[in-house]
Amino acid sequence: MINSAMSVREVAVQVPESTRLFETLKIDYCCGGNKPLTEACASAGVEVDNVIAMLAVLSRKDNDTVNFQKLSLTELITHIIKTHHVFTKSELDRLHALTEKVIGAHATNHPELLKVGELFRQLSTDLKPHMFKEEQILFPYMKAMELADSQNQPRPFAPLGTVDNPIRVMTKEHDTVGDILRELRTVTSDYRVPSDACISYQTLYQAVEEFEEDLHQHIHLENNILFPKAAKLERAES
Ligand SMILES: [Fe+2]
Ligand SMILES: [Fe+2]
Repeated sequence: MINSAMSVREVAVQVPESTRLFETLKIDYCCGGNKPLTEACASAGVEVDNVIAMLAVLSRKDNDTVNFQKLSLTELITHIIKTHHVFTKSELDRLHALTEKVIGAHATNHPELLKVGELFRQLSTDLKPHMFKEEQILFPYMKAMELADSQNQPRPFAPLGTVDNPIRVMTKEHDTVGDILRELRTVTSDYRVPSDACISYQTLYQAVEEFEEDLHQHIHLENNILFPKAAKLERAES
């Protein structure tokens, strides 16, 4: 049962479909998900009671959607990599090329595109090594920890000490990415394309907005579900 005192994060975990509604209402459910629902709705300029009513409908429909909270760490990691890391990497490359093309054609009349290009490059510079660290160090450690637990074996060697250490670093990097996404939204006036925009310009803004939505869901799964589950498993083993 959803109530206004719950944090946005708790709602997003309990009702997976709610993230789409939060996306539409511009309610931050990933990096800023610790706010109570009442406060988040007030900041977004929407009535909390209306949102709770919509969430009640969504929670009834949610039977068909994946409940990420019930997945194992290994299943969740596989989903994150297959669905979000693969998409993020390919879109970073595709949108980099598209951004440069649109800057070349339109930056004289729309200088804000130069800032869009700069922010997008920053996103790429931050996200590629971030995902590399997750895939090569953090995720394998979490999977090994889960396997050891299922076989009643001792915990694997932890090169970074407690799992809380890399989680803290990854969460901080998510915050930085969240800030860049917010700045992109401001610079592009919520991805509103000007009247003289060509197809490439329109495609770019639409694609970056979809990239933002995917990244919000990606960070939500890590910050709000995967990381707390891994930290809890580690504490249970000790
Ligand atoms: Fe990730
Ligand atoms: Fe991440």
